[in-house]
Amino acid sequence: MIELRELGPHDTVALLRIYSPEATRHLDREAMDAAEARYYLRDAAAAAAQTPRTLYVLGLVVDGDLVGVVKLHRDRPVAAVGYILRADAWGRGYATEGVRRILALAFGRLGLPEVRAKHRPENPASGRVLRKAGFVPTGEHDGYATYAMRAPTPREVAVEVRPVAGYELEIEGADDRPFVTFDDMDDNRDEVVSQSVREALGIPGHVPLVLMIKDSYGPVARTEESAVGIPAPPGSAD
Ligand SMILES: CC(C)(COP(=O)(O)OP(=O)(O)OC[C@H]1O[C@@H](n2cnc3c(N)ncnc32)[C@H](O)[C@@H]1OP(=O)(O)O)[C@@H](O)C(=O)NCCC(=O)NCCS
Repeated sequence: MIELRELGPHDTVALLRIYSPEATRHLDREAMDAAEARYYLRDAAAAAAQTPRTLYVLGLVVDGDLVGVVKLHRDRPVAAVGYILRADAWGRGYATEGVRRILALAFGRLGLPEVRAKHRPENPASGRVLRKAGFVPTGEHDGYATYAMRAPTPREVAVEVRPVAGYELEIEGADDRPFVTFDDMDDNRDEVVSQSVREALGIPGHVPLVLMIKDSYGPVARTEESAVGIPAPPGSAD
């Protein structure tokens, strides 16, 4: 399972492995040492506590293993993303998935109109990550290849939720009728329904979703789904 989460003080060792000489080769910085890792984590926690929040420095976790960092800067005229992965985790699609998830945050919950990104021309893997995630090349600036992505238009989907020893979902435009149990639905109906709709219609996480839900309680409820949830790690200061 891949997820983004807030970083915490216990992530120092994992961070040192991510910011290795091999991984920082194409960044404007050196490999990290332990003192810097501690400052970095303190700064990330301070940024997370700010209101309004202008910087998201999030851990990319695969099956419980912190393998990278994905950032969203809003303290710029136009928001920008950045990312780095531990070298032994390269080539498995993790960076692309991490970028997609932070875009879901940017365009979903934060409602930003545009996000930009850049990479050194001698780092083509990074350009591939950006294109796979949906960025469009915009040229070159200051020795970087530059990219941009506009907020996608929200998808509006009608869903009928029918109770039949659980619930069957009839999703407009989908042949499948996903089935969810009463227990699943108890937790959070809108979240369960939106997850099913995204899977059934192949709607990526960064596309905001507006659901028109009709259920046994009667009228159609219009819900606007927020983007990925980013829980803080256990034991973190914030
Ligand atoms: C760049 C980086 C983030 C990519 O992470 P990753 O998890 O390996 O990325 P993904 O697996 O999601 O995708 C990598 C893509 O680049 C492609 N690729 C790898 N090396 C490449 C190269 N030399 N030339 C062109 N494409 C390349 C891969 O084939 C893959 O594309 P595909 O899925 O179409 O096959 C990772 O290498 C990294 O952290 N590098 C150091 C830090 C860095 O450069 N950060 C970005 C700064 S702008």
